[in-house]
Amino acid sequence: MPLPPNEEFYRIKKLPPYVFAVINEMRDKARAAGIDIVDMGMGNPDGATPQPAVEKVIEAVQDPLNHRYSVSRGILPLRQAIVDRYAEQYGVTLDVDQEAIVTVGAKDALAHMLLAILGPGDLVVSPNPAYPIHYYGVVMAEGEAHMLPMPDAATFLQGLKAMYKNGKIPKVILISFPNNPTTVCVDLDFMREIVELAREHGTYIIHDFAYAELGFDGYRPPSILQVSGAADYAVEIYSMTKSFNMAGWRVAYVLGNRRLIAALTRIKSYLDYGIFQPIQLASVVALRECQDAPAEICAVYQRRRDVLVECLHAAGWPVEPPKASMFLWARMPEPFQSMGSLEFAKLLMKEAQIAVSPGIGFGPLGEGFVRFSMIEEDDRVRPAIARVGTFLRKHGVAPALQPEAVHV
Ligand SMILES: Cc1ncc(COP(=O)(O)O)c(C=O)c1O
Repeated sequence: MPLPPNEEFYRIKKLPPYVFAVINEMRDKARAAGIDIVDMGMGNPDGATPQPAVEKVIEAVQDPLNHRYSVSRGILPLRQAIVDRYAEQYGVTLDVDQEAIVTVGAKDALAHMLLAILGPGDLVVSPNPAYPIHYYGVVMAEGEAHMLPMPDAATFLQGLKAMYKNGKIPKVILISFPNNPTTVCVDLDFMREIVELAREHGTYIIHDFAYAELGFDGYRPPSILQVSGAADYAVEIYSMTKSFNMAGWRVAYVLGNRRLIAALTRIKSYLDYGIFQPIQLASVVALRECQDAPAEICAVYQRRRDVLVECLHAAGWPVEPPKASMFLWARMPEPFQSMGSLEFAKLLMKEAQIAVSPGIGFGPLGEGFVRFSMIEEDDRVRPAIARVGTFLRKHGVAPALQPEAVHV
């Protein structure tokens, strides 16, 4: 009997293997060989979920009523809880039925929103480097992904305006601030300008707000929905992953524009029956009873940021301290630029026993950089970065800077 043809599948052809898998595989092999790799690669929070949410999931799982299918768009108490949080935190009023939906994490929200609203060739503009699904979600939905460089927010905005001026009108602007991987931050005026562009040209906006709660030194990342009238154009994705240390639970929300949310609701009604109900009930508890958790989690990252920046400076690798997120985005020292970020990340792991994410994994404009995730404790980070210092010196990079050159 003939086997099916051995061709590459139509969509799979467009999806290159995840660059980060190469580093993860190397890390796992080294660890299996007994080498202790300090993992600052993936943005996978190491902290525990708030205890009341853990207790609620244990209680709720005992009730057979919670073993049934749940509701694809999320149970009403959970949608109400996030709508209430937005009212308290941002002064934003949302309709719980038409302007809020629960999703299986932000990745599900992005992938299925793009699938729901894009047709072949529809243009989506987003900054580069970027979180991979921002680009590949568009590719999978057969839209046209247009990347604009984002060394900083103003340059991105200029590029966007120039694009409109040249008659290239996107259907969707897809942005995310605080940004992963670059940690670029914006203020509410930036969001106003984006909404203004959308209003002038009839463009939708998707704002991935994965790092909503992780602003440092008093900086509070703005919600795009704080801009008056933003919901006529925009949705915002708020995730429990980083804000509440709930990465594995897979809970996020899409909030704002009714047409976009109706489209996502429709497509998800075909795809899933909602998140396991005990998890939804526990998420209600997290939002209602653990309101201080995001600030506490943020304080941990801020402290780790200070330690990492201080250690990198001492190692002879001067970096910009991030103002938000759980990452540090570092330009590779000059002698390594020509080898590319993947080879550099491999070399760092081999010689300094530390895993970082190569910038190329975030798109072509990420080349020349690596990303550190702040997911290891200080007592592991300090010796790891000291090893990086030894590694740099071995490769001819100048030794430690004077203390007065250290800016934390
Ligand atoms: C910008 C951005 N969006 C979305 C996600 C994924 O979030 P979730 O766990 O809610 O799917 C991440 C995770 O690293 C991210 O950096």
